[in-house]
Amino acid sequence: MIKFINNYLKIDSKNNSLIIVKHDNRSELVYYGKKLADHNDYSYFSSGCKDKCFASNCDYTNIRSVIASNGECAQKSSSVGVIKNGIFTNRFEYVSANIVEGFDSPLPNARNKGQTVCLEYVDVISKATLKQYFTVFDDCDVIATHTEVINTCECPITVNKLMSLQLDFIALEANVSTFDGTWVNERTRHNTHLTGSRFEISSALGITSAEHNPFMIVEINGGVMGFNLVWSGNHKEVVEISPFGRVRVQTGMNDYQLNYELKPGEKLVAPEAVMVYAEKEETVTNQMHKFILNHIINPNFAYKDRPVLINNWEGTYFDFTGDKIYEIAEKAASCGIEMLVLDDGWFGVRNSDACSLGDWVDNVEKTGGLKNLADRIKSLGMKFGLWVEPEMISPKSDIFEAHPEYAQAIPGVEPIERRWQLCMDLCNPEVLEYLSDILIKLFKETGVDYVKWDHNRSMSDVYSKCLDNQGKYFYNYYVNQYELLRRITEACPNVLFESCSSGGCRYDMGIQYFMPQCWGSDNTNAFCRLFIQEGTLVGYPQSTMGAHVAAANTFPNINIESRFNIAAVGAFGYEFDITKSTDSELDIIKKQVSYYKEHRKLLQYGNYIRLGSIFDSDLTGWMLVSDDKCEAMAVVVDKTENGRFKYQRFSFAGLDETALYKVSMRPQANVDGIFEFTAYGDALMNGGLDFYSMINCEIKEKEEAGRFASRMFYIKKIN
Ligand code: DGJ
Repeated sequence: MIKFINNYLKIDSKNNSLIIVKHDNRSELVYYGKKLADHNDYSYFSSGCKDKCFASNCDYTNIRSVIASNGECAQKSSSVGVIKNGIFTNRFEYVSANIVEGFDSPLPNARNKGQTVCLEYVDVISKATLKQYFTVFDDCDVIATHTEVINTCECPITVNKLMSLQLDFIALEANVSTFDGTWVNERTRHNTHLTGSRFEISSALGITSAEHNPFMIVEINGGVMGFNLVWSGNHKEVVEISPFGRVRVQTGMNDYQLNYELKPGEKLVAPEAVMVYAEKEETVTNQMHKFILNHIINPNFAYKDRPVLINNWEGTYFDFTGDKIYEIAEKAASCGIEMLVLDDGWFGVRNSDACSLGDWVDNVEKTGGLKNLADRIKSLGMKFGLWVEPEMISPKSDIFEAHPEYAQAIPGVEPIERRWQLCMDLCNPEVLEYLSDILIKLFKETGVDYVKWDHNRSMSDVYSKCLDNQGKYFYNYYVNQYELLRRITEACPNVLFESCSSGGCRYDMGIQYFMPQCWGSDNTNAFCRLFIQEGTLVGYPQSTMGAHVAAANTFPNINIESRFNIAAVGAFGYEFDITKSTDSELDIIKKQVSYYKEHRKLLQYGNYIRLGSIFDSDLTGWMLVSDDKCEAMAVVVDKTENGRFKYQRFSFAGLDETALYKVSMRPQANVDGIFEFTAYGDALMNGGLDFYSMINCEIKEKEEAGRFASRMFYIKKIN
């Protein structure tokens, strides 16, 4: 609910309040935290608009702001910069605040909104207008916000900075958790304690990147806040501590190479940012998961069962034929696997990664006809999925020969190749038309049920002949990329899309708006996955995270039962050549698939609660609990090689303290017998279970001496 109380704007979600006060021509953030009752006066929160500091040589903007103009005599980062006639200084002054019906944006933004309020500011120097929106939702505590600059001047202006969110707090320190990494080590957690300094993460790679995910947690004065962006391009997150005792938090698109000219009447809309406040990180996670499922994911797929798949990539790489793929599908179908995904290498003359991207034409000689292959696979009762990498072009391809201008390249300069490929220039409308036509035709004619949409290089040589000013490139690229996704997903409403970017290098809410799943990482080693998956699930729901059981030939060698237990917390599948599996392995897979299907609802959509962090304890795990706490799944993993030599206990979480539960361990091929007992919620959550005896007493020789042991449990309320 959004209310105006005297001079105050009170933006209430279910359990949070954000309060802004108007002081003459400035807006001040006086409160963001636990929900407050409506009062007539919040002046005791205000810094009293002491916006002029007593000393002359220091930060002028002492009040807590939700926007900050470039050049306003402030040390802290500005949130908006407009250049007019060579003047870089702005002074955006508050004009009004009104409840609005909604807003226009060329970018994806939250669905099913509650109320929205728009604050309007005018720059007294350039006369440009800034609008700032705040939206609340009926079912969660997330507040969405973004800004837009409108050229209300008589001549062109250039926007060189436009952050989506800014919040200022009174504090001298903050703890920041970010989810950073590399290819094959995405979203690993980093905790930073900040005092008197400025912290920034960003991406300038043209994708959100594995280096820094836009999801961030900030803890100030004991409150925990989560921030994220509905955006897939270059981004920037700042937490800045002023020695005067102000903490500024900003999130938005990166101003790197941003030089966005607006003619009179034109506007630039920033990506939507989201925030949530809670007393515990676990609640931030829960709220972010709910928000993504209810307001970001395509409603055709939110809360829908995700199929158990087999992907041929790690099993065959480029070395396959249609018959080989069919054999894989046949074996997989006999184990109950529901979908086969044909990965890279089915098109053009692509037998290695050196050619053919952009030639989205069936290599009939290799596949035996894609449609025919899809039909054969479907006749096994399976679904059929297909890999594409639409935003890329190989210099060795028919399409590049015909249209070299489709590639991102600066005229007269040899562009940098990565993995022998260039990015498509999506700022060129012809590229958008080419891709939407060829892909819609391909998906419809083949009858695909699922598409894996890959993106395997970051951007360089950004240039489009279609832009008068290359400072628009990174923004306009995504306007058209999202338009492409909109067209394709509307034309193929029943196709499930999984985004991939060399694994998880573009894992964000902008992409998830169109593609309900993201491949978590090219690192399918179950041990490494524990770190990647824990980091991912702090901000994103498990149904968005592709996670597969891979072959056992990577170090450390983890038993197939533990590989299953670890992968089964995501959108689940297998990724090896199942035609080489022994009968006893096939029997294990069959049992795993059937167990997964039986508990799929909880595994994919149960409320995720972490049990012990992989980053700082040997025993790690998670629970997936139903809303009514009547059912739960739990997984516990010992990340060490010698768990059987240690007395370790663990406790469950998220259950009803007073309820009696039956706990049943998933039968595992490497464990003798079954393990079942009943206990009350309070005991399960406080006393804990003896993991030591579970892996010593029930273990068979083939547990491989308790190395990386794990167990999965189904917990059901019986009274
Ligand atoms: C990178 C992906 O992450 C892999 O799963 C696979 O699809 C390859 N690309 C194919 O080139």
